[in-house]
Amino acid sequence: MMLRLLSQMCLLLWMLLCSVRLNTITCCHERDRSLLLMFKQGVVDPSNRLSSWSSVQDCCLWEGVECDDDRVVRLMLPSSHNSETLRGEINLSSLLSLDFLEQLHLDYNDFERISMPSINNSVATHTHLLPNSSKIWVLNLSYNIYLRIDNLHFLLSQLPSLTSVRLSGIRLPSETNWVQLLASLPLQKLFLNHCYLNSSVLSRICQF
Ligand SMILES: *[C@@H]1O[C@H](CO)[C@@H](O)[C@H](O)[C@H]1NC(C)=O
Ligand SMILES: *[C@@H]1O[C@H](CO)[C@@H](O)[C@H](O)[C@H]1NC(C)=O
Ligand SMILES: *[C@@H]1O[C@H](CO)[C@@H](O)[C@H](O)[C@H]1NC(C)=O
Ligand SMILES: *[C@@H]1O[C@H](CO)[C@@H](O)[C@H](O)[C@H]1NC(C)=O
Ligand SMILES: *[C@@H]1O[C@H](CO)[C@@H](O)[C@H](O)[C@H]1NC(C)=O
Repeated sequence: MMLRLLSQMCLLLWMLLCSVRLNTITCCHERDRSLLLMFKQGVVDPSNRLSSWSSVQDCCLWEGVECDDDRVVRLMLPSSHNSETLRGEINLSSLLSLDFLEQLHLDYNDFERISMPSINNSVATHTHLLPNSSKIWVLNLSYNIYLRIDNLHFLLSQLPSLTSVRLSGIRLPSETNWVQLLASLPLQKLFLNHCYLNSSVLSRICQF
């Protein structure tokens, strides 16, 4: 009797702290939660689109976050006609540390910068890959028209599973070393419309 009461109280507490999803009780993985909060720190969010990120405990219920069990697998924060844009910085170091993240959609926002894992990372400099290489296979950063990507080669080298890359409407670096790297990816889709490339060779792969 006592035990049953106790377990019911535990359950209640758990439900208060977390949430009930699809008849199962899950709570997002603490590591993913803190990595997302780290990402949020760099985001400027004037219209408070990410308000659920501070009011709700379970990060799997946050705006734009999708989980498989308790792990974050998709981050979908494109801006649509009626939602205001997010600005500031994309902390890619923290997003790449989400062990199970597969899709990253941040299109049509006004992000300005991407901060990347330190290029000095000992393993990175030798093998061009961080210890736990990212599972991200969809990267959609299209039409963040103010975004500067300074080291696209390094960025792509951290994402060895990419099959779909959308970098339309971004000022890509004039340095072209990243183009060869594309060939080593298992790419199926590559969108580079309106990418303001200068080089005469490259501008042919940008369609206007
Ligand atoms: C990005 O996130 C990492 C941890 O995931 C953190 O160490 C770093 O300070 C963050 N960078 C910025 C610029 O906020
Ligand atoms: C990377 O390493 C070099 C020397 O090894 C150092 O001068 C530089 O400040 C380091 N950069 C970062 C971002 O840690
Ligand atoms: C690598 O990923 C595993 C789980 O996928 C995790 O437990 C481990 O801490 C990660 N290692 C590093 C260095 O991030
Ligand atoms: C990714 O970006 C493109 C623009 O290049 C957009 O039209 C598309 O809807 C986005 N894809 C997804 C799956 O959100
Ligand atoms: C394109 O070239 C012009 C002059 O050659 C330069 O001023 C401009 O910054 C370049 N744009 C990019 C995106 O590299």
